[in-house]
Amino acid sequence: TKRDIESKRKANNIYQLPKMLVSAIPTNLQCPRTQPARIPKPDFEPPYPCHAVLFPQDVSQLVIAIIGAQHKPSSDPTATEASRSTISTFLSNPTASTPPSFFEWASVTDNKDFLNFTALAYWPSKSAYETWTAESGFQTWWTSLDPSTSPNGWFLEVFLPTTDRFETMFNTPTHAEGSAHMRESMSDPIREHGYWGSMRDRLPLSQTDPLTGTPDARPSTTTTAPISNNPSSSNKRIIIPGKKNLTIIRSGQDWHDTTPKERDLYLSTMHPVLTRGMDFLRDNGSEVGCYSCRLMDIVDAKTGSSERIDRTFGLAYFDELASLERWSREHPTHLAIFGGFMQYARTLGDEVTLKVFHEVMVLREDQQFFEYVGCHGGTGMLAAGW
Ligand code: HEM
Repeated sequence: TKRDIESKRKANNIYQLPKMLVSAIPTNLQCPRTQPARIPKPDFEPPYPCHAVLFPQDVSQLVIAIIGAQHKPSSDPTATEASRSTISTFLSNPTASTPPSFFEWASVTDNKDFLNFTALAYWPSKSAYETWTAESGFQTWWTSLDPSTSPNGWFLEVFLPTTDRFETMFNTPTHAEGSAHMRESMSDPIREHGYWGSMRDRLPLSQTDPLTGTPDARPSTTTTAPISNNPSSSNKRIIIPGKKNLTIIRSGQDWHDTTPKERDLYLSTMHPVLTRGMDFLRDNGSEVGCYSCRLMDIVDAKTGSSERIDRTFGLAYFDELASLERWSREHPTHLAIFGGFMQYARTLGDEVTLKVFHEVMVLREDQQFFEYVGCHGGTGMLAAGW
């Protein structure tokens, strides 16, 4: 009976994983491997359950747009509100036939003390996104922005991964985040997680492609005057060209519905370490192949406040998948949060109330677009040099 299983699980202090494990790679994207899988053995059983988003069969490319406004620390809140309202008119424009499937707002104060306020919007195809940019008036507005007169900076970062270059991981099948709003369903528990290299194994294209980046793309650690300190970008409109297999991770945390015990555990042991890890990537990322990292708060659309929302995400851009793998496997901050989570997920299984997820994409040059209007030189991919 359910009660017997429960008491056995509690007695062994270990979660009993359902036997029906599925591959994180959807059936229609599975193919014979020419690249080795990292899974320790074919019938490997992870210590706790995780799930992946399954998209409808006709979804073959997603679009994720980060539309941001950058405000000087001294600017008053009404200016930030005006920027939000401007972006909002396009996202919610009723005349656009293909509005985003989902969008929400996030903000972060960066290491130059600028407030970056962004919309995070998702579409289920490139054509839907392009139709929206035209019909909503966004494209006309965006191209008309003049960096020499705009009182604040603006940025547009668009990722257009085909589904073979995209993977997700959720520790609960019931909470939708980001791309999961476009799901057909969440998968049954997946086999490919709980070991280093599982992120790669979940990426369909990794079956046949080593997913290496541009060899010389790694930022030099010996640059004497970091390009990111170049102040002249603040009166320019700059497009950063695409980089081969640029790797993006959005890794989210939601502690809103945690039990008091887990909330304490998260806020005292994990969140501070996560912040240190993200600060490292933001300030010293070039040492490990990371161009940009923002630890962002999800904020209320109206108030701009993150209070009582209790959701954050790390958004980081790496020169290649191997660099992201290395950081997650080697950096003491991630090792600490990873270890802490593994330990209590192992015991609690699907009773864990902290919700974590990530979405990772490895982009072709033509599947990324970065444009900055009047932003400081440390913003996003501007830090990669221009
Ligand atoms: C994987 C914990 C934040 C990057 C994992 C795994 C855990 C974990 C337990 C292994 C999952 C599995 O395979 O079953 C956490 C916790 C976080 C957090 C508790 C926050 C509180 C982040 C952030 C990043 C990140 C912010 C990067 C920006 C990664 C990567 C992997 C991973 C790349 C996959 C490694 C691989 O499979 O090779 N994390 N993590 N994590 N995490 Fe995190």
